[in-house]
Amino acid sequence: MSVERLSPCKVNLCLNVLGPRPDGYHNLETLMHPLALSDRLECERTGTRVVLTCTRSDLPVDSSNLVVRAANAFRDEAGLTDGIRMHLDKQVPMAAGLGGGSGNAAAALLALNELFGFPLSPQQLARLAAQLGSDVPFFLQSKPALATGRGEIIEPLDWFQALEGAWMLLVHPGFGISTAWAYQSLERFPEALHGQPGRAQRFVESLQSRTLDEASADFYNSFEGPVFEKHPILALYKEFLRESGANAALMSGSGSAVFALTTSQEAARALRDRFLARFGTSPWTEMLPVGPSCL
Ligand code: C5P
Repeated sequence: MSVERLSPCKVNLCLNVLGPRPDGYHNLETLMHPLALSDRLECERTGTRVVLTCTRSDLPVDSSNLVVRAANAFRDEAGLTDGIRMHLDKQVPMAAGLGGGSGNAAAALLALNELFGFPLSPQQLARLAAQLGSDVPFFLQSKPALATGRGEIIEPLDWFQALEGAWMLLVHPGFGISTAWAYQSLERFPEALHGQPGRAQRFVESLQSRTLDEASADFYNSFEGPVFEKHPILALYKEFLRESGANAALMSGSGSAVFALTTSQEAARALRDRFLARFGTSPWTEMLPVGPSCL
């Protein structure tokens, strides 16, 4: 028997870092939105060990991989010694601020729980997810959510009125960014390191009651300062997208992906054509619908 699961990615529509914590992490408030762009994970009970294979040869498949760590944590928590073979079909760019690895870990927990007859409760899964990484708990559910704490406290939200019928153009420069580096770099950007609490909640209310254009000035990401300083091409992408018809544009997570929102598929297509004409075909691009029907 095997279980297969899609592993969607996310963007952060707002990411407000609030300050460092004694445990080395940072408190933050972020509005995370799931996207239809997904990896695919297949899990099977076989053998005696945990084995992972992947379509991307540059992704380690040893115990440094979050999927392997999730499977080991699942076996320990459920008191199982059965072997597990997993195969990951990778579509989401890596180290892109799209939560690909975190989503894969959550997909592994959910798939394995199904494969073994649901031995773990939702609470146990949430605890394991938070131990695996700050972004992993978000991916145990599939709606937009406000995340607080170090990102592991999740409040699921309804789909936003301002994004009804909207389309997203995602662009990626072909290089990744280390999240740990991005957090360290905030030390040189004191205002971004100590964001004003309440910004993400106000942005949620704005997306619930206003149009995309009215909410567009409130898209915010604390990491744009340090990341754009080191990688000015990403600032150019964002500026170009804004000037070329996007209703909003922002870097996602700690980068390197940048997203643009438009109010129609045609507008997203026209924006992609302009982007490719300006930056050539080496950046990766993807067009996606946004909203309840996207997953
Ligand atoms: O939780 P996760 O393992 O994904 O975090 C990766 C790194 O990002 C951490 O080791 C830490 O340096 C940084 N981080 C942080 N504050 C957060 C989330 C992550 O400082 N809220």
